[in-house]
Amino acid sequence: MHELKNKIAETFKFIKDELKEIPKIDIAIILGTGLGNLAEKIKEKRNIEYWKVPNFPVSTVKGHKGELVFGKIGDKNVVAMEGRFHYYEGYPLDQVTYPVRVVKALGAKILVVSNAAGGMNPAYKAGDLMAIADHINFTGVNPLIGPNDESLGPRFPDFCDLYDPKLIALAEQIAKEEKIRMHKGVYIGVTGPNLETRAEYKFFQMIGVDAVGMSTVPEVIVARHAGLRIFGISVITDVCLPETLKPCNIDEIIKTANEAEPKLTKLIYTLIERI
Ligand code: HPA
Repeated sequence: MHELKNKIAETFKFIKDELKEIPKIDIAIILGTGLGNLAEKIKEKRNIEYWKVPNFPVSTVKGHKGELVFGKIGDKNVVAMEGRFHYYEGYPLDQVTYPVRVVKALGAKILVVSNAAGGMNPAYKAGDLMAIADHINFTGVNPLIGPNDESLGPRFPDFCDLYDPKLIALAEQIAKEEKIRMHKGVYIGVTGPNLETRAEYKFFQMIGVDAVGMSTVPEVIVARHAGLRIFGISVITDVCLPETLKPCNIDEIIKTANEAEPKLTKLIYTLIERI
């Protein structure tokens, strides 16, 4: 149990030495598939590649870079994770969620997390954004399973209003001002790596899901356990209506994510400035 705390302390020390100061982070950002450009907009940037960081796994996915970007957005100290780890890559969940433990140790109070997701709400179009109002953990696993270290978080964390309603309201206001199409909906987390069957999409629609994706849920679970406020946002990269489903490929998903990227960057950047 103390092993995790020791690992976090080792990673913290490395980052502190690398940056030659203790960074006091306000907000951490996880950038999903094809959404890395936000990191370019961070001021006073200092980058640390994942492979150098003790206890960090290394990202293997197409479209993901693999570095921590420290710096400023407005008056906030931020760290962006450019590239994330997925369960389907074979990383155990304690590694998938390890960076969340590290940003908490660096002082982060808020986690902003983005992803690419398949839309199942008939009102959604490819390229739209969706603020995550709530999620369903459909992965069949949970990163909190195992002995609980009470100094990191409670055994039975409460998940009411998991996604911070105040941050969602602020994002809605910004989307309106900036004329960005943003919905608010339920995200279902699956393990992947296959895309879903027609029957699965139909089932998800029936149980009230608006978007499906292969990330975010594990990191959000650990972030809440660690006491962070959470804002999650999906880029709807493809629309998966069971009746009219056509084969979709990952290159198209990445292309749509890249095309929607300026909107997402604008939204997240403004949100962080105004928090
Ligand atoms: N399923 C379907 N479509 C998607 C996904 C997914 O997990 N992620 C992005 N588009």
